[in-house]
Amino acid sequence: MEDDIETVLWSSDEISKRVIELADQLNHDLSASSTQLPVFVGVATGAFVFLADLVRRISLPVSVDFVRVSSYGFGTLSNGSPSISSDLKLDVIDKHVVLVEDIVDTGNTLSKLIEYLKSKGASSVSVCTFLDKPSRRKVSIELVGKGKFYGGFECPDKFVVGYGMDFAEVYRNLPYVGILKPRCYQGIKEERPKN
Ligand code: PRP
Ligand code: MN
Ligand code: MG
Repeated sequence: MEDDIETVLWSSDEISKRVIELADQLNHDLSASSTQLPVFVGVATGAFVFLADLVRRISLPVSVDFVRVSSYGFGTLSNGSPSISSDLKLDVIDKHVVLVEDIVDTGNTLSKLIEYLKSKGASSVSVCTFLDKPSRRKVSIELVGKGKFYGGFECPDKFVVGYGMDFAEVYRNLPYVGILKPRCYQGIKEERPKN
């Protein structure tokens, strides 16, 4: 696994420090807002590591749930039409939802999810993403109510893996984030063209 990494972008220590900063901001903002228990919703699968680290630094009572959305399949490019393949377990009516993502790329996944949470009656939706790749954005992220956007690091336009992020379902368990060597994905046929 380690041999497939070209460059380490963020080490495990750097990640831990940033996660603490993000959690501190959330602790501050959430304690200042409503009396309703916030719901942290992780986007499976990629967000599972970040969500686990983040919620353990949140000092208020919160609920945790997951939704599953898929757009990349086994290629490296988004197919532009994510689908929600696993619903929420919890009720989010009148709740403040913090959507937790590993990475925002085109924005398609988050836009779809924000619309979905709105339709489920969430009173506000914030987004907390570990990485943000604004250079690849196709749709802007429209938050709901008093929702805020929290971003860990700005990511260059490279295919990154680790800390929950995969290529073809591998590398999620790397404790750092690295750029994958092109030889690892060359020759893989994309399921859909870039759009
Ligand atoms: C990745 C990533 C985000 C999404 C971002 O998930 O985890 O959820 O793509 O891309 P977008 O902004 O272009 O929509 P993926 O669909 O690969 O599923 P995974 O989390 O199971 O790897
Ligand atoms: Mn994901
Ligand atoms: Mg993925």
